[in-house]
Amino acid sequence: MIKPHGSEQLNALYVDDEGQRQALLSEAEQLPSLLLSSAAAANAVMLGAGYFNPLTGYMNLNDAFSVAETLHTVEGLFWPVPILNLTDQTGIEAGSRIALRDPNVEGNPIIAVMDVDAVESVSEAQLDMMAEKIFRTLDPEHPGVATFKSQGRTVISGPIQVLSFSYFQSQFPETFRTAVQIRNDIAAAGWEKVVAFQTRNPMHRAHEELCRMAMEDLNADGILIHMLLGKLKPGDIPADVRDASIRKMVDVYFPPNTVMITGYGFDMLYAGPREAVLHAVFRQNCGCTHLIVGRDHAGVGDYYGGFDAQTIFDEEVPDDALDLEIYRADHTAYSKKLNRVVMMRDAPDHSKDDFVLLSGTAVREMLGKGIKPPMEFSRPEVAQILMDYYQANA
Ligand code: ADX
Repeated sequence: MIKPHGSEQLNALYVDDEGQRQALLSEAEQLPSLLLSSAAAANAVMLGAGYFNPLTGYMNLNDAFSVAETLHTVEGLFWPVPILNLTDQTGIEAGSRIALRDPNVEGNPIIAVMDVDAVESVSEAQLDMMAEKIFRTLDPEHPGVATFKSQGRTVISGPIQVLSFSYFQSQFPETFRTAVQIRNDIAAAGWEKVVAFQTRNPMHRAHEELCRMAMEDLNADGILIHMLLGKLKPGDIPADVRDASIRKMVDVYFPPNTVMITGYGFDMLYAGPREAVLHAVFRQNCGCTHLIVGRDHAGVGDYYGGFDAQTIFDEEVPDDALDLEIYRADHTAYSKKLNRVVMMRDAPDHSKDDFVLLSGTAVREMLGKGIKPPMEFSRPEVAQILMDYYQANA
């Protein structure tokens, strides 16, 4: 199986042994505690689940700068996005051991124990420097920039031991999977070539066909639909609705035993190209050999060019940085001429009018009004689930 990123073995930071975990929880109750931001808690979940292998905890300021500027830590590990614990809470000291508390679960239970290596102030200008590199914009309207800039001005770094997967395991018991579990499932299925499909949306016809095309072009053994289960910007479809619609689609339209439906506990960054590279890193960690990167991958608004998330792999990712390869998808849509979903590059004789193209906003409006999007755009079973959601929440 493909090796994890940066190490021979996957090192998930979750403390698996029940006795040891209970002992750490008891110890942590007596320690000074820090209430995490949602982003830092999501980082803990990803570290715990092995997705952020080989990191051992939160980055210090020098590593964060280095990663933001060069996509490498100071020691030279390839890594695309700073993994930070930013806070405004005072009183945390370097050299101390602290309990990290989960902001997303009632009562703020302990999510991890941390050995604090350093406590460093970060200036507005330094945060901007990093945000500009990560998001390619400083626009406060960009949801990722807004979140990044709102977490505090102190960087707490050091190794962690993770004691919980936050709300993800209880809210998405069927879907939340750690990188360790996915590796095991892939091995058990006997799959060697595995294509990951990242998504934060319900899957319409274009998404479905992208998975099918990638499977066929790569002659893959299976596809891992890997959905984000964490926080999204307002207007995005909640994870449980998306999960239900994806399960329905796979059930009806894919042959058995060719698809794994899974999810990971992370908040969306909307960092476009940089997030695509992070996606590649953690799909390698969960044992996938390929990642589909299509149009405006992990994008938002008009901040990124349609295929910037592909060109970053040519321009900023060294050849030997990753073992996983990306599958580059062109804009995909239903062709009225050919009566099937195609990539536009495969239909050079088509004009725009030959495709069924609907904007996200148009689709949301239709669903809200109880109008099913056309069959060419959305499977009727998927449209029904989405329509029920929009109407219940109108
Ligand atoms: S994302 O933020 O998780 O990337 P989304 O769930 O919409 O958003 O997209 C999942 C994947 O499908 C991404 O790789 C994206 O580039 C790709 N994709 C979505 N729609 C299309 C499309 N019409 N044509 C080509 N690629 C697409």
